[in-house]
Amino acid sequence: MKSKLLTALIAALCASPALADDAAQYQDQARATAQSLLKQLGGELQKEMKAGGPVAAIKVCKDRAPAIASDLSRKNGEKVARVSLKVRNPLIGTPDAWEQKVLAEFDRKAAAGAKPETLETAEIVTEPQGKYFRYMKAVPTGNLCLACHGPAEKIGKEVKEQLSADYPHDKATGYGEGQIRGAITIKGPL
Ligand code: HEC
Repeated sequence: MKSKLLTALIAALCASPALADDAAQYQDQARATAQSLLKQLGGELQKEMKAGGPVAAIKVCKDRAPAIASDLSRKNGEKVARVSLKVRNPLIGTPDAWEQKVLAEFDRKAAAGAKPETLETAEIVTEPQGKYFRYMKAVPTGNLCLACHGPAEKIGKEVKEQLSADYPHDKATGYGEGQIRGAITIKGPL
């Protein structure tokens, strides 16, 4: 009788969807981190666009975005970054295989009618080095973004010159409002 109970208990424990629960447990924190990055960056970008226009605001995206992401990474002991399938800065913006898959899924869901700002994914993955919690949140292209990521006619001459000097391999133009520009990605060891 006792051993039957034990067997049942072990079976119940093994059958419980531990992985799904684990991912959910880290998701709130990841969501808050992504929001914090978007809020800080959006605030600084808006302020600089108003004060100095898009040419002056390039430095917010070039210097402040990676700095804010690094601060959050250090504080939380995880990797926080921005990635895209059409990248401006290939050094930090190039997605890995998992991120490419998720970005493609986000695009598919948006094409099927989902609102880009609602799209997020959380998963626990096992890699040769161990287990990681991974999270991504889609970042839609707003009206503000078009001055530097929009179609050619929306990007001013000076902005174009500065961008092509800083990013000779820039692929991050031609976006329309509401399209997914990329995602915030978070990866933490478990
Ligand atoms: C003033 C010009 C400017 C504006 C406006 C701007 N960006 Fe960017 N964006 C850049 C630059 C420059 C980079 C490259 C940053 C770097 O070197 O890491 C970049 C990079 C990115 C990246 C990282 C992936 C990549 O392509 O390198 C994302 C995501 C992104 N921008 C989203 C947005 C969104 C969303 C908005 C609107 C809310 C926006 N940007 C507005 C200039 C701009």
